Amino acid sequence: MTHDTIIVLDFGSQYAQLIARRVREQRVYSELLHWDAPAEQALASKSVKGFILSGGPASVYEPGAPTLPAYVLESGLPVLGICYGMQLLAHNLGGRVAPSQAREYGPAEIELLDAHNPLFAGCSVQVAGDASQVASLASDLQPAPLPPATLPVWMSHGDRIERLPAGWQALARSTNSPYAAMGDPARGAYGLQFHPEVTHTPQGAALLRAFAVDICGAAADWTPANFIAEASAAVQAQVGQAHVLCGLSGGVDSSVVAALLHQAIGDQLTCLFVDHGLLRQGEAEQVIDTFQRHMQAPLVAVNATEAFLADLEGVTDPESKRKRIGNRFIRVFEEEAARIAAQWALPAPRSPTPALRAGASVLGTDEPGSPLPAPRTIGYLAQGTLYPDVIESASGSREQAARTIKTHHNVGGLPEDMTFRLIEPLRLLFKDEVRAVGEALGLPAEIVWRHPFPGPGLAIRVLGEVTWPRLETLRQADAILLEELHAAGLYRATSQVFAVLLPVKSVGVMGDNRTYADVVALRAVTTDDFMTADWARLPYDLLARISNRIVNEVAGVNRVVYDITPKPPGTIEWE
Ligand code: XMP
Repeated sequence: MTHDTIIVLDFGSQYAQLIARRVREQRVYSELLHWDAPAEQALASKSVKGFILSGGPASVYEPGAPTLPAYVLESGLPVLGICYGMQLLAHNLGGRVAPSQAREYGPAEIELLDAHNPLFAGCSVQVAGDASQVASLASDLQPAPLPPATLPVWMSHGDRIERLPAGWQALARSTNSPYAAMGDPARGAYGLQFHPEVTHTPQGAALLRAFAVDICGAAADWTPANFIAEASAAVQAQVGQAHVLCGLSGGVDSSVVAALLHQAIGDQLTCLFVDHGLLRQGEAEQVIDTFQRHMQAPLVAVNATEAFLADLEGVTDPESKRKRIGNRFIRVFEEEAARIAAQWALPAPRSPTPALRAGASVLGTDEPGSPLPAPRTIGYLAQGTLYPDVIESASGSREQAARTIKTHHNVGGLPEDMTFRLIEPLRLLFKDEVRAVGEALGLPAEIVWRHPFPGPGLAIRVLGEVTWPRLETLRQADAILLEELHAAGLYRATSQVFAVLLPVKSVGVMGDNRTYADVVALRAVTTDDFMTADWARLPYDLLARISNRIVNEVAGVNRVVYDITPKPPGTIEWE
């Protein structure tokens, strides 16, 4: 793909991915690279139109602090530094950065000193003297002289610029920052002390758009339709005549992969749904039913519960659980691929519905009696790997690679001797882009807006050893939670909601009897990107209803707790 591109260099900000997503929301393609990624990687394509330097926790004078790669200024391309990125620009170009007397965290107001600057062209500003008056700088405020115009922004910085580099001008100031925005418009270089990427800066999207589209001149052509056309062409070129197996979980990512591949390569695709016994209540049937109602590709459904549970026997370490499940998935895929290929060589018996049993049943699209296809094999395995997974496991990000947080994301736990080649058509997309592509492909809301469900399923929500009875306990509690959430109309208002079975028992009293039974934790979060999350403020009466029902209806559970930990420092899953 050769879209005009804005490269975001990550200096360690928790918002770095968000910057790239916000630029893409303006339909300009953007990639995130670690700040010390090699120049060849950053300038690999002629379509790079500009750079954004993210914030970061360091101070430019600190020993070992991340530095500005020389190619950024040498390229002559427009550059926008945000927070630490701004300080790096000032530091490198002869300005002075110093610790701010008052650190600024949270909401602030900046006063624009050059409201005609192209960076502010799309902003709606507050005009001093009349807080209710909002004007568009591009139109209503022409011509000068301008009354002082202000913007609400989100600040988060310790250091600040004290002297501008030669040739730069102050574009905005705040109470604590004489240079809340600075620029050298002739070279298309800008710095912002605040964070345009967070929603607390309401005009942030307009600022990023002005930079990417007007100042960098990047084409706003990153649309779901363009992505689908290009990804389809790329898949066709990659697989040629080969056959592809797509692991289907029922979640949005694998469903979008399946729909995209089916559009691109038609009956060269077979989808495989593996019930590992670690699914939610009724989920296997639901996934198959939804697939059959909305998608045309052939589906093979396999029940491999016994094999997965045997692998998990006695295992309590979450990383081992993940690895064992990942390995077993691939072994099942390999077995099924061989079985499917063997069936192609036979006069294939077709069953009307996929049976969920050990073994496979193929739902074909061929008419009975049609000529048999030539024997084929399955060379590729399609996965719904997303861009955040790619970034997290990218070799360019040396610090991140060094600290394995969880080996979860699909790129992690594949066995080395796997016989498939991988195909990952969504590896450039963020989750919200996957949803947009799903909608453009015509997938229904029940798939597109489904909460994510982890590949290892309930194995990482049954803390400690995973046994069938404990899975059943969790399934019942989880089903009550989801039923009540739907009934309260809060499914779409939350991002991920589930129950966790804890590996401790607690004392209780039921009727006149003392109990000593299991504890269930409820987790409900809201998030944009699953990299950070907050706990959902579910209504107390809803929580009370759920707790009451779980304790009454689920045998062996006598206590329900609600997890009120944000991410960070917690994670969304408990394991
Ligand atoms: P954490 O727990 O890291 O989760 O905050 C972030 C998102 O990733 C999902 N997750 C997984 N997905 N395999 C997956 O496919 C895994 O092992 C896994 N662990 C976490 C989690 O559900 C959340 O959406």
